[in-house]
Amino acid sequence: MRVLITAGPTYEPIDPVRFIGNHSTGKMGYALAEAFAESGAQVTLISGPTTLPDPANSQIRTTRVETGAQMYGAAAAAAPEADVWVFAAAVADYRPREVAPNKIKKAGDTLTLELVRNVDIAATLGQTKRPEQFSVGFALETNDEEAHARGKLQRKNFDLIVLNSLRDPGAGFRHDTNKVTLLDAAGQMTIFELKPKAAVAHDIVRTVLARLSLRDA
Ligand code: CTP
Ligand code: CA
Repeated sequence: MRVLITAGPTYEPIDPVRFIGNHSTGKMGYALAEAFAESGAQVTLISGPTTLPDPANSQIRTTRVETGAQMYGAAAAAAPEADVWVFAAAVADYRPREVAPNKIKKAGDTLTLELVRNVDIAATLGQTKRPEQFSVGFALETNDEEAHARGKLQRKNFDLIVLNSLRDPGAGFRHDTNKVTLLDAAGQMTIFELKPKAAVAHDIVRTVLARLSLRDA
């Protein structure tokens, strides 16, 4: 089995020394890469900038990117051959329309940057998904969690979505633990306890493998 995983944040440059980014650490995506590799899969891990070392497991091939556009390019190249897609990255929704060639100098009391929409990697690849391929998305929400997650599941053609609520202490960014709810396209919902990200990754891998074996049956 081949698995494509996006992980970490993206950095969208403003000028040669500044960027727009977010607090994603990549831990959940890297834990999923390890868990899928342990299950025997060959993993392509496409990672935004993180402080984590490339996983040592020889079944995991790590590609480093910076921007959402680069992450899309790397993911689109690997997607056709992958059986499972996991979109764990926190891709910047917008990027500066123009990247200043030189460091922007301080001037005036305000600065306005114009931002343009970044490509939605999961949604764009979702339109190319073949019936035998399986796509997993993430949703990090603060309110109306289930409704937002179900909307993303549909819009991005996911088979499964992993919902994190920032209202759960110990979930989401900057923690070594996570508390997730899995929702599928058939409306089934599974709520998991707060646990280390490695254990959450194994829960997700087990669920994906079970769904795939049901399809084969
Ligand atoms: N995603 C992606 N490319 C993007 C944005 C999001 O692949 N440009 C993926 C994420 O990796 C995640 C899922 O889409 O698996 C949901 O991301 P999220 O940011 O929650 O969804 P958005 O559609 O960007 O909606 P929101 O307005 O809530 O940010
Ligand atoms: Ca977003």
